[in-house]
Amino acid sequence: MQVDLASQKLRDQVALITGAGSGIGRAVALAFAAHGVDTIIADVRRDEGPEQVAELVRRRGRRALVVQVDVADRAAVDAMVREAVAKMGRIDILVTCAGVNVYQPFLEIEQRVWDLTIGVDQTGVFNCCQEVARHMAARGSGGKIIVLASVSAEDAFRNQSHYCAAKAAVIKLVEGMAYELGAYGITANAISPGWVETPFTADYLADPDLRRQVEATIPLGRVATPADIARVAVFLASPEAAYVSGAHLRVDGALIAGRGKT
Ligand SMILES: NC(=O)c1ccc[n+]([C@@H]2O[C@H](COP(=O)([O-])OP(=O)(O)OC[C@H]3O[C@@H](n4cnc5c(N)ncnc54)[C@H](O)[C@@H]3O)[C@@H](O)[C@H]2O)c1
Repeated sequence: MQVDLASQKLRDQVALITGAGSGIGRAVALAFAAHGVDTIIADVRRDEGPEQVAELVRRRGRRALVVQVDVADRAAVDAMVREAVAKMGRIDILVTCAGVNVYQPFLEIEQRVWDLTIGVDQTGVFNCCQEVARHMAARGSGGKIIVLASVSAEDAFRNQSHYCAAKAAVIKLVEGMAYELGAYGITANAISPGWVETPFTADYLADPDLRRQVEATIPLGRVATPADIARVAVFLASPEAAYVSGAHLRVDGALIAGRGKT
């Protein structure tokens, strides 16, 4: 029998994935399950999305726990981590995918949109990372923290200055975590996608003209699939990435490298 070594390397690890009811988080949960990882599917949504992901994880032979949580709510995040550890035993990997992006021109950004964006995309990442890192540090077995940032962290995008600000903040948070948590054997890295085909971008990309304009800016000529991003999360969670920490990895089809060039 041929053994697939790649799929053995993460076997029996436990991953907590926020925003796993949809898009990139969903793809990460399914990719992890295919590599033998048990998953905690954390999401604010109360529809069938998270449970459907859990069912697909179970069909791949792995355990799945669904937790309904608003990552912006610290008490709810702490309760989520307690429940995850009580029911799944431990957390080896955290992937923060929960995110919101409400397009508004800078002069018209509403206070509630600013608060929501910073609350979920910045404070929500801090809440999850700190509480899971405390668990990992106390356990003493290391861990992997992977934060979904965005190319919006390093360049301006129209009607997204609040989102860009939150994403830039989490890149620095990742560097700080990598610096301070290395002593505990915990790595922290950021993945920055460009355009990814998910419900997050669906409305925008549904317009054929806008889609063509977007694709024209991507040297690889296409929008990413959620699986393109999930494969990178699998790498960062694996022993292959043991010495990768504090990195900010663009997975953008060279969007940023090509921006502004003719
Ligand atoms: N899709 C893209 O083009 C793209 C590009 C760059 C970065 N990203 C980032 O990737 C991450 C995932 O995005 P996606 O495209 O999969 O989006 P998505 O909308 O498909 O999924 C995001 C998930 O996060 C959940 N969520 C939202 N607010 C939450 C909260 N307060 N608490 C818990 N869960 C919450 C949603 O319910 C949803 O299931 C986000 O952080 C986003 O900023 C996406």
